Amino acid sequence: MTKVCTTNARTALVALALIVCTGGGVGAAQQEALPAGARLYLDCGACHGRDGGGVADGSVPAIGGQPAKALIAALEDFRSSRRQDLRMRHFSDPQHLADAAEVAAVADHIADLRRTSPVGTGDGSDLTRGAALFRSRCASCHGRGGEASEMPPRRALAGQHAGYIVRKMTEGGITAAQARRHTSLAKELGGTGVAAIADHLSRLPPPP
Ligand code: HEC
Ligand code: HEC
Repeated sequence: MTKVCTTNARTALVALALIVCTGGGVGAAQQEALPAGARLYLDCGACHGRDGGGVADGSVPAIGGQPAKALIAALEDFRSSRRQDLRMRHFSDPQHLADAAEVAAVADHIADLRRTSPVGTGDGSDLTRGAALFRSRCASCHGRGGEASEMPPRRALAGQHAGYIVRKMTEGGITAAQARRHTSLAKELGGTGVAAIADHLSRLPPPP
């Protein structure tokens, strides 16, 4: 952990490092005693929450319970800059996740988390339309229930915060080819269509 904390202190993320280096209130000796995945997740939990529930407004996605393979795919995308996000680029870099074994260990830990924190939804006013639009425009790739898949590796959209789904649809911010597909879908659907789909998905049961 010392290596991690010194590196952070040298970056612009000093304030964040202060939170992260406290390890969510876990002492140094306790940290050493944790299994690798749980120890590595201490950094992640500062943003994604102890249960992997993320933040209800969708600024940080829920990841708890997603299949390990789909989590690894996202982490590899961040590590190789195929997917751009400054925070995730930093926290998935080799200073934090040294090699494939550490990536796999933290992914296995997250896959086992059970989410208990609240999911951010929409206002519930357009759920029938949201469900119909999801079935016609998204389900061919994301499954009828927005469920996760290991192959191809895909995170569940069911039980994800509505704000995150809206953001990914409108801002892109997934791998470049998918971002283009999704932002053009969002233009066709319009703001109310995207919001209705996101509201529908956020109310479906999250990955078990
Ligand atoms: C500083 C806050 C922060 C920390 C620390 C952090 N994350 Fe993230 N993470 C985010 C944000 C914000 C996103 C969404 C990025 C975007 O909009 O594409 C994200 C996205 C992800 C995703 C993709 C989820 C999806 O549905 O596509 C995974 C997987 C992930 N993080 C895992 C981790 C792991 C593992 C760690 C620890 C090694 C970690 N994160 C640490 C903020 C953080
Ligand atoms: C042709 C296939 C296809 C269609 C249609 C499609 N998606 Fe996607 N979507 C993908 C793929 C592939 C990814 C990226 C998975 C990855 O990066 O690992 C993705 C990613 C996403 C993400 C980011 C989630 C994450 O965890 O990274 C959201 C949100 C999303 N899609 C919502 C939608 C919605 C809503 C619709 C319908 C309006 C839709 N998608 C239609 C294939 C599709």
